[in-house]
Amino acid sequence: MIDFMLNGQPRRCEATPETSVLELLRETLGVTGTKEGCASGDCGACTVAIGEPGPDGELRYHSANACITPAHQLNGRHLVTVDGLAEGEALHPAQAAMVACHGSQCGFCTPGIVMSLFTLHEQQRQAPAPLTPQRLEAALGGNLCRCTGYRPIRDAAMTMSAHPDHRPLWLDAAAPKQGEQADPPADATFLQPTSLAELNECLKRHPRARLVAGGTDLWLETTQRLARFERIIDVTRVAELNAVDEATLKDGRHGWWVGAAVTYSRLEPLLEEHYDAFAHLLHRLGSQQVRNRGTLGGNIANASPIGDTPPVLLSLGSRLRLVGPEGERELPLDEFFLDYKRTALREGEAIRAIFLPRPAAGQTLKVWKLSKRREDDISAVLGAFTWRMEDGILRDVRLAFGGMAATPKRAARAEAALEGHAPDASAFLAAREALAEDFQPMSDVRGSADYRRLSAANLLERLRLVIAQAETDSPREVMLHAYAH
Ligand SMILES: Cc1cc2nc3c(=O)[nH]c(=O)nc-3n(C[C@H](O)[C@H](O)[C@H](O)COP(=O)(O)OP(=O)(O)OC[C@H]3O[C@@H](n4cnc5c(N)ncnc54)[C@H](O)[C@@H]3O)c2cc1C
Ligand code: FES
Ligand code: FES
Repeated sequence: MIDFMLNGQPRRCEATPETSVLELLRETLGVTGTKEGCASGDCGACTVAIGEPGPDGELRYHSANACITPAHQLNGRHLVTVDGLAEGEALHPAQAAMVACHGSQCGFCTPGIVMSLFTLHEQQRQAPAPLTPQRLEAALGGNLCRCTGYRPIRDAAMTMSAHPDHRPLWLDAAAPKQGEQADPPADATFLQPTSLAELNECLKRHPRARLVAGGTDLWLETTQRLARFERIIDVTRVAELNAVDEATLKDGRHGWWVGAAVTYSRLEPLLEEHYDAFAHLLHRLGSQQVRNRGTLGGNIANASPIGDTPPVLLSLGSRLRLVGPEGERELPLDEFFLDYKRTALREGEAIRAIFLPRPAAGQTLKVWKLSKRREDDISAVLGAFTWRMEDGILRDVRLAFGGMAATPKRAARAEAALEGHAPDASAFLAAREALAEDFQPMSDVRGSADYRRLSAANLLERLRLVIAQAETDSPREVMLHAYAH
């Protein structure tokens, strides 16, 4: 049973485990303002807002793609759709601004765009901040419009605060209590444990159940391949999997255990403070809707060769903490990816947390993602590199790549070619040659094997230039030097 609020009204529905929020809205409830475009999280036509109580008890709304959000995750939440925003003739500022700026033509994308603007408006209410181009791009980057053009839509975003604030009062109504889950009926098909102890119990009872966090990978199995799930364990409510705890490992490294269910949006401030390059990558991972729901745990467990965060975490020497029927265990991320989509997770095990080390003294991280589009696109090749300089010599070099093998993988031979050497042209030439032995990439729609080989080698050349620039502090000199070779 799902207990939730829909546009200010309490609702109680039954649904199969694989039902999406979009199906629940359109097919079960007959609430059809929210549209289906791609059914894969790409177009944003189905964008809705989901309100969850924040630490102060006030509801915080985030945008989500209804087509790939599990309906059961609405339990205890407040769902807002475009159908509920206007009260009689009084339009919400997001709607009024879209009308005033002529932000809609055929109208197919419009409900989704209005809901992205609605969440932006809510965020501005709670924490006013300048609407920079970056913020606007982030808010709207997950919404495609094939006919209006984006300028009028952008104008609407910039001007909506000037419209009368007809904000429905029910937006602040408390979400209903989540249906009782601690001791779910034995035949429940969508389990929502709230503590590690409950999660362990669920895993023990149902070791073959599918786990879901944000659903931004898993739900594509239902919308694209029509998969049916017998039983699902939702990890998003497990308190321990939502925590970020400072810690020191046995080897003396400081850092944070980041809960596997922490979303990208929640992780962003920590990365912005400590890892510029990683934070920048996050801005290019999926769309705002995807980052609001996608998790680090899901990205790692999904084990895609083109997942964005695994190469970064490999280059940082990350570790995983796993939970399962036989208790907890830890292992280096290096030992997690076994083969294409095959990991070291045993039956009934889940990722509890990911260790993100604090940057070591003198350590630099660079991450470069190559994809066809800047916004909302998966990598063709991604390179993540860490190193430090000691008396002009490269130390602790870790080079990890995505898109170059069946798993995210370190370039062991290229690393060896650089470790303990000066960062000069000959060391990097050897490293680029070694890459050919490290990887035999494949051709697919994102890039041919040749493109991948050349791009990966070029990323190493870029790394050489970046290091040389930092060492000489003279970009012009470095570029001249580069072209001379
Ligand atoms: C439009 C769109 C754009 C995207 N863009 C990018 C991109 O640019 N870069 C990128 O890397 N990815 C991208 N993705 C993929 C996806 O968003 C990420 O992989 C995300 O991190 C998955 O996290 P999730 O919480 O949604 O995982 P889910 O879909 O919930 O789960 C993914 C897999 O992990 C398993 N799982 C989840 N949590 C755990 C756990 N705690 N322990 C064990 N197993 C677990 C699930 O069973 C499932 O097999 C995109 C997806 C979409 C739809
Ligand atoms: S229908 Fe396209 S993102 Fe959901
Ligand atoms: S108005 Fe037609 S797709 Fe945007």
